[in-house]
Order: sequence, then C-alpha cells, then structure tokens
Amino acid sequence: MPVTPSPIIRAADLDDLAGVHALEQACFVLDGQSRRSLRHLIARAHGDFLVAVVDDVIVADVIVLYRRGNRVARLYSIAVGAAARGQGMARRLLEHAHTQAVARGCGVMRAEARLSNGASRGLFADAGYREIARLVDYYPGSDGGHEDGVRLEKHLNN
Ligand SMILES: CC(C)(COP(=O)(O)OP(=O)(O)OC[C@H]1O[C@@H](n2cnc3c(N)ncnc32)[C@H](O)[C@@H]1OP(=O)(O)O)[C@@H](O)C(=O)NCCC(=O)NCCS
Repeated sequence: MPVTPSPIIRAADLDDLAGVHALEQACFVLDGQSRRSLRHLIARAHGDFLVAVVDDVIVADVIVLYRRGNRVARLYSIAVGAAARGQGMARRLLEHAHTQAVARGCGVMRAEARLSNGASRGLFADAGYREIARLVDYYPGSDGGHEDGVRLEKHLNN
C-alpha cells in the first residue's frame, strides 16, 4: 500500500467546505453530514474542526464539540479517506483533538460508534477509550431500521 506523506493538521475554514463534504460523502454511507451542517460546524459551532491536508487535498478530518461550562468534550466525527487509512492518520488526528480539548479545559472526551464499525471501535480502544454504554437503535440502519451503537469515554489526563 502506498504510504501517505505526513499531513499538515490545521483548523478548517470555509474554503475547505468542498473538500470536507467530499470526504464525508466518501466515508459515511448512511449518516454523512450535509454541506449546510458542515458549514455550520466550521463557521459557527463551539468546537474544533481539524483537517489533515496532503498536497493541498483534505485526506482526513475530526470534529470536536464543546458545551460552555462543561468539561466533557464530544468527539462528533472522525474520518480518513480510504487511500490514507491504516497509517496512523486517525490516531494522529485524535491526539491533536485531545490536545485541543485539554487546552479548552476539558478533562473527558466522549464519542459514539456503530456496533458494527470495527475500525472505529478499534481506533477508540487503541486510543484508550472505554465503552461505557450501549446505545439502543441509535443509528439509522441500511434496511430502513436502526442499529445499536456504543458510547465511549476517555479521561484526558492519562
Ligand atoms: C475509523 C477510521 C477513522 C480509522 O482511520 P485510520 O487512519 O485508518 O486509523 P489508524 O491507522 O490511525 O489506526 C489506529 C488504530 O485504530 C485501530 N484500527 C484502525 N482501523 C481498524 C480496523 N479496520 N479494524 C480494527 N481496528 C482498526 C487499530 O488499533 C489501529 O492501530 P494499528 O494500526 O497499530 O493496529 C477510518 O477507518 C474511517 O474513516 N472510517 C470511515 C468513517 C468512520 O467510520 N469514522 C468513525 C465514525 S465514529
């Protein structure tokens, strides 16, 4: 597999909208963010929206949301384009996300994953997250039904 060169990791801006939308479409079949929602997340949300860029192309992103006065951050989404997977890209983005959250005074990061998403659950387990709850019928399913998920949590000071 070709190795993706080291990315530049930086905050997203509105010029990245087309790139992050393309990444969403490629990475999420059932629950990708709309362009409108991505625009809001970049421009107005209380969060950190980071992109990993290689040769001017967005190859991965991570979105963390905060609530004022709350030390629990929410890892809202993480995605790595297919060509850049399996090379530690998500691990590196997660580390940046954790650093940002600590800088904003958060002590805990929470995330959710589909029960069937082995890559996502593997990523979070590798990064030290614990599965703390089962989320019944949390996600839309491919057959018009629903699929369970898990809530994950990591304490950021260890
Ligand atoms: C999940 C995802 C972000 C992982 O990105 P990645 O850059 O390939 O992950 P990394 O290379 O950083 O992997 C770090 C660790 O995660 C775990 N992991 C990654 N992919 C995995 C897989 N397919 N199966 C099991 N564990 C996996 C491994 O422990 C891996 O460490 P190792 O390579 O030393 O074994 C990527 O597969 C993706 O974007 N998937 C589609 C979108 C998605 O499902 N996002 C998560 C929604 S919450």
